[in-house]
Amino acid sequence: MSTITIQNLSKHFEQQAVLQDLNLTIPDGSFFTLLGPSGCGKTTLLRCIAGFNEPDCGRILFDQDDITHVPAHQRNIGMVFQDYALFPDKTVHDNVAYGLRARKVAPEDVKARTAEALALVDLSSFGSRLPAQLSGGQRQRVALARALVIKPRVLLMDEPLSNLDAKLRLSMRDMIRDLQRQARITTVFVTHDQEEALALSDQVAVMQSGSIAQMGAPDSLYALPETAYVADFVGSANLLEVEFSGPGLVMLAGQTLQVDTAAARAGQRNQLVLRAETLELLPRDEQDAPNCLSVTLAGQQYLGSRTLLRVALAGGLTLQVDAPGLQRYQTGQALWLRVPPSCRVICR
Ligand SMILES: Nc1ncnc2c1ncn2[C@@H]1O[C@H](COP(=O)(O)OP(=O)(O)OP(=O)(O)O)[C@@H](O)[C@H]1O
Ligand SMILES: [Mg+2]
Repeated sequence: MSTITIQNLSKHFEQQAVLQDLNLTIPDGSFFTLLGPSGCGKTTLLRCIAGFNEPDCGRILFDQDDITHVPAHQRNIGMVFQDYALFPDKTVHDNVAYGLRARKVAPEDVKARTAEALALVDLSSFGSRLPAQLSGGQRQRVALARALVIKPRVLLMDEPLSNLDAKLRLSMRDMIRDLQRQARITTVFVTHDQEEALALSDQVAVMQSGSIAQMGAPDSLYALPETAYVADFVGSANLLEVEFSGPGLVMLAGQTLQVDTAAARAGQRNQLVLRAETLELLPRDEQDAPNCLSVTLAGQQYLGSRTLLRVALAGGLTLQVDAPGLQRYQTGQALWLRVPPSCRVICR
């Protein structure tokens, strides 16, 4: 286990700056996720931590040890890749045992620790199979056992679930989280799937063009995004330009709303973040309708447990509303849209 500290890390490929003066502290024993769109530099950063990419400048520390120039095989990391990267001609057992044999562990210990690692991922009876004789989920579990068996200081995973079908992804999430909790290995997990990031992580760093846009616990990132980019990437959000009209007050489509304006700035571009599931539709005959916008129902999709509704504001702006169960409103109907006063205005 180790705290990972990244200081002023930069990396170019040819003319392109892929990581730009990046600073990050990954707490000891935590499950830490790098989240961001394709091309933002997640894999490049992970490979710098692993020692497969040499940074142009900056430092990487495991606890107090500066490992910036230590070769990958001496960093004591376990790595799990998107495409499993198993040795195709070695059995499951030998794939898992590989790292122990390379470290010259005594044969009886290799046997015991390999058996233990295979049991951990529920593959005890698969030791003699070749990777080609396994399903995708089983291969990924072998890759996980291979990474964990060496008792690494740090576990690095690059989109390990993205080649699996949706159902398997959910059960593998549980397995990865349980194993990480038991072993308390500092884990850096890369994904572009915001739901996966929120579900698995103690901390999430949202990356944007080679920098960290915002870092925090899943619930705080979701509830308190600091920029429009983060609000939109971590859970989809309705982002609406509003006029800041005083502490706690904004104007939207000619109506005054009471919202959280702590981060708003007069005279700048302020945007109101409205999470679809926090909005509530009310019939127009409702007399007491504070903090409501006048809207028209433009369309709806019933999805069983919930309904996704599209509503139009005066002036043509549309918003998404995510409401529980079946909603009994007609398309074209005039409604109130209740805005919770806890909704935040952001200014970046
Ligand atoms: N070896 C390389 N040579 C040149 N450019 C590279 C190399 N590796 C990565 N890049 C470039 O660096 C940028 C960041 O790549 P990286 O693989 O880190 O992105 P990513 O966030 O992991 O994306 P994805 O979600 O698609 O895996 C991309 O523009 C990519 O083309
Ligand atoms: Mg990548």
